[in-house]
Formats: sequence, C-alpha cells, structure tokens
Amino acid sequence: MAFSSLAAVSALFAARHVSAVLMVNELAVTPQMGWDNWNAFGCDVSADLLQGTAERIVEIGLKDAGYHYAVLDDCWSDGRYSNGSLKPNFEKFPNGMAAVADAMHDLGLGFGMYSDAGRYTCGQYEGSLGHEEIDAKTWASWGVDYLKYDNCYNDGQSGTAEISYNRYEVMSKALNATGRQILYSMCNWGQDHPWDWAYLIANSWRATGDIYDSFDRSDVRCPCENKDGIDCAFPGFHCSVMNIINKVVWFIHRSQPGGWNDMDGLEVGNGGMTDDEYKLHFTMWAALKSPLIMGNDIRTIDAKSYSILTNPAIIALNQDPAGASMQRRWRYYVSPTDAYGGGEIQMWSGNLAQGDYVMVLLNAANQDMHMNATLADIFVDNGGAQSAEAKGSWDLYDLWANRMPDSVANRILGANSTANATEYLYNATAKSYKEGIMANETLLMGKHIGSVKGLGTVSAVVPKHGVMAYRMRPKTASTYKRDEL
Ligand code: GAL
Repeated sequence: MAFSSLAAVSALFAARHVSAVLMVNELAVTPQMGWDNWNAFGCDVSADLLQGTAERIVEIGLKDAGYHYAVLDDCWSDGRYSNGSLKPNFEKFPNGMAAVADAMHDLGLGFGMYSDAGRYTCGQYEGSLGHEEIDAKTWASWGVDYLKYDNCYNDGQSGTAEISYNRYEVMSKALNATGRQILYSMCNWGQDHPWDWAYLIANSWRATGDIYDSFDRSDVRCPCENKDGIDCAFPGFHCSVMNIINKVVWFIHRSQPGGWNDMDGLEVGNGGMTDDEYKLHFTMWAALKSPLIMGNDIRTIDAKSYSILTNPAIIALNQDPAGASMQRRWRYYVSPTDAYGGGEIQMWSGNLAQGDYVMVLLNAANQDMHMNATLADIFVDNGGAQSAEAKGSWDLYDLWANRMPDSVANRILGANSTANATEYLYNATAKSYKEGIMANETLLMGKHIGSVKGLGTVSAVVPKHGVMAYRMRPKTASTYKRDEL
C-alpha cells in the first residue's frame, strides 16, 4: 500500500482484535443480510408468505448475493399455552413454527422471529418481558436462528442506559443459555443510546425510529429532523430516508464487527421512491454498515429493485472486512428557504480493507447538482491537504456504472433462474465477500472510470435525490497516468 494509511489501517485491525473479544457471538462479523416481512406486509403474515418468499430468494440468486435470513416479524402468535410457552397462530402457520424453520433450513436460509422486551409486542400480541428463558428455549427448540426484539409496552423500563441494558441483557443471556447460535437484533429505536452499550449483548440495535417508504417527507410522527436528531426524545415512526441518515451521523462510527447500528429494513421495491432515491437509500445503508434486510415483496420484485439489491459493488461496501462506517465530511444547504426537506448536499468518505476508500456524493437537493469533493476533504481524518493520502493519486471506480441492465434482470425474474448472469451477480456462497474483496474480484470493485491526482478534486453531476459512489484505490507513482477526471 502506497501511503502512511498503512499504519492507520493496522491500528484499526489491532483495535478490531480487541472488539472481537467483546463480541457476543461470531454471527455478525459483518452486518447481517436477509429479508423481513414488516415493511411490505405488516401483520399479514403466514407460512405461505414465508415459503413463497424464501423459494424465490433462492431461485433468483438473492441468497447467493448474501441475503441469508428470512425474518418473520410481529403478529405470528396466539397467546401462551398453559405451561407458559408461546403458542403460534395455527391459522397463519398450520404446521407450527418448527415446520417453517425446517423449510427455511431446507432452502439453506436462516430463520428469524420477532418478539418484544415488554408486556406486549407493538401489534399487541404476547411480549417476552418476564418470560425470557422459556421463550428463548421455545425458539431454540423450533430451530430459530435470529431474534428481532422490540421495545413496545415495556412497563416504563427505559430512560437510562442501565435500565434498558438490563432489560435487553436478560434476553441476551437467555439466548446464549440455549446453546443455539441465535443472532440477536435489538429493536429499541435508539432509546437510551444503544450504540454506547448494546455491542456487549447484541449483534445489532435499531438506532432510529421506524422507516417509511419516503425519501425526505417531513412527518410530525418522526420529529427532530431540524436538530439532526441529537438526543431526540421521540424515535417515532414514518421516518424518511434522509431523516434517518441525518440522525445516525453523530454515532454511526460506533458500529463495529459483531455489533451494528441498524437503520431499519430496506424500502427498495415498495414503490414510494424514485429509482435514484432507492439507489441512494441502498448505497447509504450499505456504506453506513446497517444490516441489509430487504423489506419488499420478493415474489413480485421488479427489474430495477432487483438490480439495486444485487449490486455487488455496493454490497461489498457493507460486507467489507474492515467493518468501518464512512463519515459525513460536509453538508451544505442548497436553498436557505428549504432548510430540510430536500435542499442539501453531502459528501461522505471512509476507509475499506485493502487500503481502499469509499467516497459518496449525496444530492438531496431538488435539482441535479454539479458536486466537487477535494482529496483534502475526503482525507480530512488523515490530515487533510497535508496528508500523504491527499497528496497521492487514486484510481476511481464507479460503483453503479456496472449495474445490471433491465433486460438481464427481467430474464432472471422471468425464468426464475440466474443462468448466464455471472457477469452481474456475485455468488457469495461460492466465495465470501471477504475473499472476493481480498482477491480484487472485478464485480466487487465497480467500473474503473479514471483517476484523480494529488490534491485534486473528484467532480460529478449527481442526479436529483441521487448519489455517485466511488471506490478509491491508491495508485503507485509508477502506474500514474494523466487520465484524471
Ligand atoms: C415496531 C418496529 C418495527 C416492527 C413493528 C411491528 O416497533 O420498530 O420494525 O417490528 O414494531 O409491530
């Protein structure tokens, strides 16, 4: 590697060894990937929905792209048996939950379930507060691999980090005591700053209120957008993509291998945003190391949503072994009369494994924008203009330029088969993202579009509500060519 960032990167890896010791388990060394029914279906759940979705996840290559867990959200239960254990709703799940878990396992997927660290779930079904041990045992006996654990009706047991920690720790211990490997996905909406403590007990924690399928619509039910959400007392719901991005910015660096800030499930494919907005949503969730949990109807997925969710160069940001979130380097309002709600542009950058960097130009203004990112700003953490990184030259790879064409996506979706799509689809079952990244697999790199020389500027026209996303790779002096943008 060309620059002094070698020292920084080895320090990073050394630090990661320490956090590896703190990991609750080895289940989320990189953010978990999968599907959850909530965003598209809410309470309308059934064994048929899970079966149909899971089969398609496998058939159209989403499993091989890395989407491993099929997660059943709220509204699956029907009270408790007289022995105290949770009873499934047999109308929705005629053969019970173990049968569903078996079916998911037969397809090579992990099975996730949902409960709540309260008296009831948010949908007012049985909660698990006070029943942690028996519920964890029940899920383990059914073959559950993942628990999403919500926060409604918690009997007022929140308000300090310690109270929330203690409440969520009971389930962490109960899951561990089962002896089954169960990924623990906390869902307390960022209350009591879980990024300060949840990595000790969980694999991920919801950092913000519930997402809504909107790019930047203001909604009173998801407040604090103008304060950037610092210490917002109300996590809320109906939170737009930009609302969530602007709220996590302050603590997003607190993710680490084993424990991740969860920005909520994806809305790609649910119809409320434009293609550029969905690309932005997916890029930011990936590069901020949120779990990538699809939230659309996979059985009817369209070509454009499919080519977003399978873009290997973007997923590679999420599954990068360095496990570091990118950071926002600057933000400007485009129009003073439009202080939120769309009138802003941002630049984000961060380090990846292999000495690479990611840089994203984000345009949330209501018009296409010509945007510039100087190397001094991209490498501000390394010392800005004084740094060897800013003075060095970099190859640039556009992470969306090789997006699968609609014709290819439609062929895959029509045939329910991924035959002849290796040009666009990465198979992480055959070779993990980590191995692929270390081997510089072209699919994971994006398209080489040129380079930028020392103290130069990366410029691009970024579409309205869109992103340009780049992988930057250090160029050695000997290979430097004058083809900068
Ligand atoms: C919310 C949670 C959502 C969903 C819903 C189910 O609290 O944040 O993701 O699980 O409950 O009722």
